[in-house]
Amino acid sequence: MNTVLFVIAAYLIGSVSFAVVCSKLFGLADPRTYGSKNPGATNVLRSGNKAAAALTLLGDGFKGTLAVWLAQWLGPRFGVDDTGIALVALAAFIGHLWPLYARFVGGKGVATLLGVLIGINGWLGLATIVTWLVIAYAFRYSSLAALVASVFAPFYYGLLFGLQPALFAIAAMSALLIYRHRQNIVNLMSGKESKIGSKKT
Ligand code: G3P
Repeated sequence: MNTVLFVIAAYLIGSVSFAVVCSKLFGLADPRTYGSKNPGATNVLRSGNKAAAALTLLGDGFKGTLAVWLAQWLGPRFGVDDTGIALVALAAFIGHLWPLYARFVGGKGVATLLGVLIGINGWLGLATIVTWLVIAYAFRYSSLAALVASVFAPFYYGLLFGLQPALFAIAAMSALLIYRHRQNIVNLMSGKESKIGSKKT
């Protein structure tokens, strides 16, 4: 029962869309109305406001870290085991993709996945972020970097910790992230994907 409460709390934390919140704070247009229409840091960057995009990235990432940290810290006192913590990580991510506060229309999960991974283990988060940075630097596509990093994340976890409940949660998040990027994949394959730094259309 306590695990269910932690999972619900994580979902509600994950449901906060920092792309929408930061855009309002900075007086920008709703990111769901321009560019890729995705409420995420990459699309907020298309508004031209780097500070709003950076805050979106940090907020959407930190909510994932926070949900996992809370479960790791408080969970054991309430009987939440490793499987429960893995479900909490997944719930925060699902909150971002299907947020309660935005009629279940959310983002693609990149920043939140990275935040969740940092919460699970700092080295795991760092390895995945470095993967994202290397691909982003080499190819200038945020989506491609996210896709490659998310494919590598379960392997990094498996190498570090082996077959644990979190491995299945991370694999599920990777699969959902790839599914959410299906239009980006089509755009990448047809050469229509916009590069990092290009402005909104
Ligand atoms: O953060 C999501 C990114 O991977 C792709 O975003 O707006 O280009 O679809 P976008």
